[in-house]
Amino acid sequence: MMLNVSVPRASARVLSLAIRGSGSYFSNIANYPLSSNPTPRNIVGSSPLLSSLRPSLRSIHNPLLISTLSRGMSSKTTSKTMKEMVTDYSSKPQTPVSLQTLMETGRGERIGKGGTTDATIAASDSEGTATELVLMQVASFLKHELPIRLAHRIKDLDNVPMMSEMNSVLQVRDWYEKSMTELIEFPAITSKEDEEKFAKLLEGIYERHAGVLVTMARGAFELRAAIREGKYGRGGKADFEEMEGMHKFLDNFYMSRIGIRMLIGQYLSLRQPPMDGYVGMICQKTSPGKVVQQAVDDASFMCNRKYGDAPEVIVHGASDLTFSYVPTHIHYIMLELLKNSMRATVEHHGVDEDYPPIKVIIADGEKNEDVVIKISDEGGGIKRSHVSRIWSYLFTTADPAVQEGMVAFENVDHSIDSPLAGLGYGLPISRAYAKFWGGDLSVMSMEGYGTDVFLHLSRLGASKEPLP
Ligand SMILES: Nc1ncnc2c1ncn2[C@@H]1O[C@H](COP(=O)(O)OP(=O)(O)OP(=O)(O)O)[C@@H](O)[C@H]1O
Ligand SMILES: [Mg+2]
Repeated sequence: MMLNVSVPRASARVLSLAIRGSGSYFSNIANYPLSSNPTPRNIVGSSPLLSSLRPSLRSIHNPLLISTLSRGMSSKTTSKTMKEMVTDYSSKPQTPVSLQTLMETGRGERIGKGGTTDATIAASDSEGTATELVLMQVASFLKHELPIRLAHRIKDLDNVPMMSEMNSVLQVRDWYEKSMTELIEFPAITSKEDEEKFAKLLEGIYERHAGVLVTMARGAFELRAAIREGKYGRGGKADFEEMEGMHKFLDNFYMSRIGIRMLIGQYLSLRQPPMDGYVGMICQKTSPGKVVQQAVDDASFMCNRKYGDAPEVIVHGASDLTFSYVPTHIHYIMLELLKNSMRATVEHHGVDEDYPPIKVIIADGEKNEDVVIKISDEGGGIKRSHVSRIWSYLFTTADPAVQEGMVAFENVDHSIDSPLAGLGYGLPISRAYAKFWGGDLSVMSMEGYGTDVFLHLSRLGASKEPLP
């Protein structure tokens, strides 16, 4: 496949985007100069860990109709209907990335590796220029890749039975269409100024899509209610949780969203002043021990706010271990798991009782493929009849009023400001984060006693994102 990317004359030598061959990330990125830094300052907080954590907390979780869109369109895009554009772009292959490729690109190691180009350019240019080139490479790659990914999702949203008719789902679809059109209409990135404008566009898109997680949850909530009311001829049976196809669709949708936000977040982070040990959002020395401690503090804060007390958490194991990973992703998962364990512990033993501590064990070995984290609680476990449902979206044993409240508001995000439990999204989304970089999440429960959760994180960084 040959990709057309225009670059300024000076950088054309370096970028030499003669992307040859397949639609692999390397061929695509080499041709699109790609790169790396933590999350955008305007979206992030101030302390290094928090600044890298907060964004994904908000973000992970977050995106008009043709008539509205076509108003600002160039003649190029108006000549095609929105439907044609979606069909066109969704027929193109998506390019998966891995942690390793994102790091290499972010460090400028993919510049000049497109095939024809001289690999010496990155070295011969000044440091500043190399960074510019990296940013232009990433921006050009994103200009190519993001409309394709968005179009794939629009097509999925159109094809999912019943769900596609929900108002909230139509709203999400509009956000996707708007963002896809803006990206397609953006001119080729041929100068530093273009790259700066592109970054502004992506900041806007990142913000627009901030509410997607909750808005889609509202869509699922609307569908579940419609099914319960018998609108889809299911005799009012509340069987949303058992609709396998629907859950597969949601798994794919949210997984894809993680990928899109990772790519945009990585690029916007690369534009920020570099942080020690970071390549964009990726920390080359991620310490699971430190991230776990941060998650313990946040979960304890949330548990204290709800019950006035929180169980102690004892962390054992490889506390000095570091590996390349996205700390915000580990924090997200650990916070969800600890919130679940704390809630179960307090509710099983009763407020004001002495709680058995929650144990977190971090296991690692030089030769291990994975970093494994086990979270064990004595919170009474999960009923066997609930075990198969815990991965269903919207399944929760918390007060249903909490879920209703969460889907009723426009600006809910998934931060420490949200309730300790209640949306019924914690486990399925955490598993999507784990799987995104090649890991997994599993739950073993002993009813009447407690629950063990195993989080596997791939430490090799070579696993490519699973692209639905
Ligand atoms: N450690 C645990 N011990 C006992 N039950 C658990 C545990 N973890 C999860 N569960 C059960 O699984 C259900 C689903 O968990 P999940 O985290 O997906 O949603 P939630 O905690 O109810 O809401 P939220 O979206 O806020 O996380 C919980 O409501 C609870 O019934
Ligand atoms: Mg939860």
